[in-house]
Amino acid sequence: MRRIIVTERLGYDYPEGTRALRDVDLEVGEGSKVAVIGPNGSGKTTLLNLLVGLLKPTAGEVLFEGRPLTYDRRTLSMVRRQVGVLFQNPDDQLFAPTVWQDVAFGPHNMGLPAGEVRSRVENALELMGVEGLRDKPPHLLSGGEKKRVAIAGLIATDPKVLLLDEPLGGLDMEGVDRLMDALELLNVEKGISLVYTGHSLDDLALWADEAYILREGMVVSRGRPGEMLLDRELLMGCGLIRKRRLSS
Ligand SMILES: Nc1ncnc2c1ncn2[C@@H]1O[C@H](COP(=O)(O)OP(=O)(O)O)[C@@H](O)[C@H]1O
Ligand SMILES: [Mg+2]
Repeated sequence: MRRIIVTERLGYDYPEGTRALRDVDLEVGEGSKVAVIGPNGSGKTTLLNLLVGLLKPTAGEVLFEGRPLTYDRRTLSMVRRQVGVLFQNPDDQLFAPTVWQDVAFGPHNMGLPAGEVRSRVENALELMGVEGLRDKPPHLLSGGEKKRVAIAGLIATDPKVLLLDEPLGGLDMEGVDRLMDALELLNVEKGISLVYTGHSLDDLALWADEAYILREGMVVSRGRPGEMLLDRELLMGCGLIRKRRLSS
């Protein structure tokens, strides 16, 4: 399988000294689904920010389609055109007065002609099942709707890869179902590679082709998520299942 993103011994220390990530070797194949699972503070968000060049590694490197990221403006804008990021909190992402305008922002900014912008927005809204929300102000939407609108905005720019930071966070069951349906469509029909984070081996993690378990900034396990699920020691040791239950 062709690899789109590869990291080699990737490390990141925040300027104040926190060692957030160490020696991470990760691969994202074309059209593949990669889950990055770890408890709070294990380095998931830092890793996604490194993959799209929002942070510059303090050790190791990120390769995009075989070439190391060089952090000059040209390379970064090339990568950001092909890699979309869904932030953990969709309120950090949606800002236009209406859903339609929000989804149009990316393609408009790419300098596409108005007709092309319009057709991309219509397609993206339909794919994410949010056509009916087009005239609404984003801040009035439910959490699940906000995430689907934010993803519509990303796919309107036609990326190869989507990075999704805890996409199921804060969603109810219906929200989870609808988001997973949407992601399946993007992956299966459009061939978009997905990299997503979470803090347990939930249904979305089990759907991944490959999972990485992060603990204190290091990859402690890499493999098929279904097999990891059987390794209680590993899960317990990494804080991915609860140790304690309430007594009744
Ligand atoms: N801006 C920052 N400055 C300093 N330390 C940070 C910053 N952001 C995150 N960290 C630290 O880096 C580590 C990894 O954080 P993060 O990548 O946000 O983990 P996760 O997304 O898995 O919860 C944590 O110890 C966190 O406190
Ligand atoms: Mg995070």
